[in-house]
Amino acid sequence: MTAGGARRELVIVPDAGALARAGAARVRAAIEDAARATRRCTVALAGGRTPRGLYEVLAEQGADFPWEHVELWFGDERHVPPDHSDSNYRMVRDALLSRVAIPAANVHRMRTEQPDAQTVAADYARDLTTAFGVAAGSWPTFDVILLGMGVDGHTASLFPGTPALDVRDCLTVPVWVAELRSWRITLTYPVLNAARQVCVLVSGADKAETLRAVLEGGEDGAHFPVQDVHPQQGLLTWLVDEAAASRLTRRA
Ligand code: 6PG
Repeated sequence: MTAGGARRELVIVPDAGALARAGAARVRAAIEDAARATRRCTVALAGGRTPRGLYEVLAEQGADFPWEHVELWFGDERHVPPDHSDSNYRMVRDALLSRVAIPAANVHRMRTEQPDAQTVAADYARDLTTAFGVAAGSWPTFDVILLGMGVDGHTASLFPGTPALDVRDCLTVPVWVAELRSWRITLTYPVLNAARQVCVLVSGADKAETLRAVLEGGEDGAHFPVQDVHPQQGLLTWLVDEAAASRLTRRA
């Protein structure tokens, strides 16, 4: 237990398949909790490669899910059309949305077909404000936010050295990622840190050194964007496989 009711846990599973199943189980539990409380379950989905297996497990199990109670959002998106091979929405559509009976109105993608990333970000912030009914200066509270982590310690599209890391007064922000020479749109830290539960999914030996530095401190005192994810009143779960955990000296 840490200060203010924030809770943090490290869960190590054998491999990527186990990570997908464990992650899907957490999302399913949140959906079922919300359904029991006869309220909607709001989930912000991660992009990239790691979560695809989780989405596929949700699709395989999802025949009897109360999808009408689930609202799916995106933690970040690449500024490409929704059918582009780099689109996080397209990856989620192929792995999950095309395979389950979730109402189209319950899926909230970023409208990246718009030519300007700033407009995409502003529109999404409006969508969030309307859907969650939040007043100016307060933050939507997601039931679950899924995140990944890059080798550079970025999460969502909060990349090292970008102005997005300092944004505390907006729900979303466009990010120019110089090393990728591309625009992205991301939720900001206040939204991530307002969540009831954040689950960071980390898989693969290529992430091991970064994960060790993030969780145990780097020799050079380096600081990584994912280290500023601290749900104030929620649970932060690091859900990692053995390959990613292979450099950790502490496993709890
Ligand atoms: C994205 C993600 C990004 C991702 C990390 C890890 O849009 O790519 O939001 O933050 O989670 O880059 O990506 P992998 O899972 O592909 O390693």
